[in-house]
Amino acid sequence: MPDLHPSIYLDNAATSFPKPPEVVETMHRLLQEISLSPGRSAHRFSLAASRVIFEARELVADFFGCPDSSRVVFTSNVTEALNVGLFGLLAPGDQVLTTGMEHNSVMRPLRHLEKTRGIVLTFLPTDPTGAIDPEDIPKLLSARTRLIIINHVSNVTGTLADLVAIGKVKGEALLMVDAAQSAGVFPLEMQAFGIDFLAFTGHKGLFGPTGTGGFILRKGLMVPPLKMGGTGSNSEQEEQPQMMPDCYESGTPNTLGIGGLFAGLAFIKRTGLETIRCHEEQLTRLLLAGLSQIKGLTVHGPPASANRGSAVSLTMADRSVADLALLLDRHFGIMARAGFHCAPAAHRSIGTFPQGTLRLSPGFFNTAVEIQAVIAALDKISATH
Ligand SMILES: Cc1ncc(COP(=O)(O)O)c(C=O)c1O
Repeated sequence: MPDLHPSIYLDNAATSFPKPPEVVETMHRLLQEISLSPGRSAHRFSLAASRVIFEARELVADFFGCPDSSRVVFTSNVTEALNVGLFGLLAPGDQVLTTGMEHNSVMRPLRHLEKTRGIVLTFLPTDPTGAIDPEDIPKLLSARTRLIIINHVSNVTGTLADLVAIGKVKGEALLMVDAAQSAGVFPLEMQAFGIDFLAFTGHKGLFGPTGTGGFILRKGLMVPPLKMGGTGSNSEQEEQPQMMPDCYESGTPNTLGIGGLFAGLAFIKRTGLETIRCHEEQLTRLLLAGLSQIKGLTVHGPPASANRGSAVSLTMADRSVADLALLLDRHFGIMARAGFHCAPAAHRSIGTFPQGTLRLSPGFFNTAVEIQAVIAALDKISATH
């Protein structure tokens, strides 16, 4: 195996790294002890595996303010969760309100449904930082508006959407939230925020492994499943069971990954969401302050004074963003991401298409010293033009 040990990892918006030690330990233990099929056989190891999943479901429900854990469905990532919601909820002629800041895990299914089902997409106006004004929503709602789908925090600019304000003006429309970038950093309360469908990924702010994620479906709302098959329940029937969460969880679940996700959530609870957010906020402020002093460098997104996520997008005059990422990696041991970050529409919205941006995304395990090192590295690169 190549030595992939990072020097300074600033790509937490892609996936959080490192994972808390208890995530690693839990997964190691589960792999040794009970990495087998839960909910299928009645022997003790299978029951123990079922217990792992049940406890994780309970913790996820509690974490997102959902009173009934059977409404929590595990998927392989947020992309799958969003696809279940979008394909399941939208019918021909439905209007969808969304933004030009969405990730392709939302945009591509929407564009597909626009072509194949004739859904009507309406984009909320965004300002140059990618922010929407919730007051625009009532002006664009119609009798056909089925859904408002929005990402809570942009993976390109860190722009934060005011979900509470959106929940208040959504009218009869359902509110679906892509919480890929915000879960584990910002408070998210399913009921209190009026969210109907909350989609999350496990491997970013929730500190779980890749291959984990899910959605929470508000009580009373059902959508058809995207996949069908064995669930370990109602096995005498050839029809897909209707009950939650089994109807969406066909196939052997990722016990190991879900166990890791449980440990990630437990780490967040023990550490405190507020502590995590404050640390990331401090690092982001430090980063933005330093970047603002570098000649020829432009930051695209909300200012340091805004309530915002930690993803910071930048461009530098006369340097391609790919070049910047390569120089940072090769000469300074700094890992960042260059390009579109799977959100081409966002770059059209903020004016960085087609060059894209260099994205620096600090996470909980970064330090102020590391942020200073990145600022110094970019300063040096800008001076060697
Ligand atoms: C806002 C947003 N939505 C969706 C996704 C897709 O996440 P996943 O690959 O875990 O499905 C990402 C990942 O970068 C994201 O940042």
